[in-house]
Amino acid sequence: MVSARGAQATNAYWGRSDLERAIDAALAGAGKNPNALTVDNLAAVDQFHGGGKLSTDRLARLARLKPGMRVLDVGGGLGGPARTLAVEHGCVVTVVDLTESYVQTGRSLTARLGLADRVRHRIGDALALDMEGETFDVVWTQNSGMNIAAKEALYAGFARLLPRGGLLVIQEPMAGPTQPPIFPLMWARDATTSFLRPPKEMRALIEAAGFRALAWENVTAELAGPSTGAGVPAHSIARIVMGNLIDDITRAGQRNRDEGRVIMIQAVFERQ
Ligand SMILES: C[S@@+](CC[C@H](N)C(=O)[O-])C[C@H]1O[C@@H](n2cnc3c(N)ncnc32)[C@H](O)[C@@H]1O
Repeated sequence: MVSARGAQATNAYWGRSDLERAIDAALAGAGKNPNALTVDNLAAVDQFHGGGKLSTDRLARLARLKPGMRVLDVGGGLGGPARTLAVEHGCVVTVVDLTESYVQTGRSLTARLGLADRVRHRIGDALALDMEGETFDVVWTQNSGMNIAAKEALYAGFARLLPRGGLLVIQEPMAGPTQPPIFPLMWARDATTSFLRPPKEMRALIEAAGFRALAWENVTAELAGPSTGAGVPAHSIARIVMGNLIDDITRAGQRNRDEGRVIMIQAVFERQ
């Protein structure tokens, strides 16, 4: 479980006040109607991970998600992936995230899209998931474990939530062959809050938690973002949250990819 201080640090790092207003202003600035929201016109402001909505679609296809599946999205942020899974794949999704402003804003965006019956948002810690008897077919987690050191406990917790045959679907940055990464990263200003492990170690620890790999794909090049901050629009969630630091983050991200320091993996596992 993340300590109270850890939860506070997560909220301070990721959270922002007045987020919904900033999102509406960004939508208007991008020429989109904030009163006619769709998963597509929200994508730049609610899909907060490498590869944006395309990578969510890719991961859902890789996992062969089917209508009616009950999905738990851990560290699901503002709920962009969850709403996509609901609208485009017919899933029913519960989003858990530690950052309160994301949960509140995400819940409001979900209601504005008329999806409150299919997507729920809860404040919660990935390391202490208490789902009060709710059952799931899928645990989904996209770019959410980078700040979590206790990965064995994280994946053991996911295993506890799934029945045999249930799916664990992940997109995660992992440590490449060249270390250390160049900072700032999107998720950390320095090494004290970044906890990446090499792909081989990640796969082994997930399997040891009770999973069998069905798919494991290195998508670093395919999902690569822009190489300079100029490619990150003002109306993107990355710029809204990170401000001008996004220019340094994007520059470092390009080097981290080119020099094999950070690798992005999409994978699907089955609970044994
Ligand atoms: C880069 S964002 C990704 C959000 C979302 N998965 C997406 O792809 O749009 C990382 C998210 O991880 C969440 N997070 C970090 N540590 C967490 C924890 N221990 N429990 C729950 N959420 C956590 C943050 O609050 C943040 O929303």
